[in-house]
Amino acid sequence: MRYLALLGSHERQGITAGYLQAVLDALPASAEVETVFLRDYDIYPDTKEQACPALDEIEAKMAASDFWIVCAPTYWGGMSGVMKQFFDCMRFRLVKMNSVADTLPGKYKDKHYLSMTTCFISSTENFFTGITDQTFVTIDRILTGAGLIKVGEFVGTGTWGTHAPRPEKIAECQRWGKKIADRPRKDDNTLKRYILLFFMIAIMALITMGLQAWWFGVFAAGKFWLTYATFVVIFYVLLASILHFFTFVRHRRR
Ligand SMILES: Cc1cc2nc3c(=O)[nH]c(=O)nc-3n(C[C@H](O)[C@H](O)[C@H](O)COP(=O)(O)O)c2cc1C
Repeated sequence: MRYLALLGSHERQGITAGYLQAVLDALPASAEVETVFLRDYDIYPDTKEQACPALDEIEAKMAASDFWIVCAPTYWGGMSGVMKQFFDCMRFRLVKMNSVADTLPGKYKDKHYLSMTTCFISSTENFFTGITDQTFVTIDRILTGAGLIKVGEFVGTGTWGTHAPRPEKIAECQRWGKKIADRPRKDDNTLKRYILLFFMIAIMALITMGLQAWWFGVFAAGKFWLTYATFVVIFYVLLASILHFFTFVRHRRR
């Protein structure tokens, strides 16, 4: 499999780069790996008259790889500007847009990606403040919009006051490297999500209706299970149809 790592840090050899390297080092020997340090490229928006040569070059690498590792430190509570500039300039190469401004997946649909970021603050502080959330939200918005499938995410916390990656976080990166090795190409989990939705509704309805029956005795005697089963099925079909409409039909190519 071919892996492309996009590194959007100020530092070529920084902590963020160290974590990225740990993921790459854990890939099998058969993996073809390339890293793009975005600061090496003169990235600017394409114009009608002239396409940006740096974008052409990086885009060729993106097209040639099966799996992207998007690695951007969190700066000021969001994705680093280097990575943001790159994705901003790539917008019309990544997605298609229709007449009503819907964003539709482009030619990279069904590739996979892993997102990685780092931050100064500790894991506990990050858990409560969510400083890295916005970085992941932005990466996901861009890449799922382009039709890619997310495999996971990594946060290298606690980078303040140190120059080296932390051993336990390096171990986590190594686990990611093993996990993303030779992933099957198509696994968008849609069926799994709908099955999960069914069980979520079934359990929540059982709790809700069980309490209603227990506290208020609202269901006809001897009809609880029929009432419950029909409620679950009807509610599931309606909810699944609405979700399907908004996530698939509305975004279908026209
Ligand atoms: C310009 C800049 C802004 C940053 N902003 C934040 C921030 O808002 N919150 C945070 O926890 N870390 C912040 N960091 C830390 C980075 O996310 C990163 O963890 C750190 O720079 C180490 O990565 P590096 O060695 O690749 O540079 C910032 C770093 C820089 C250089």
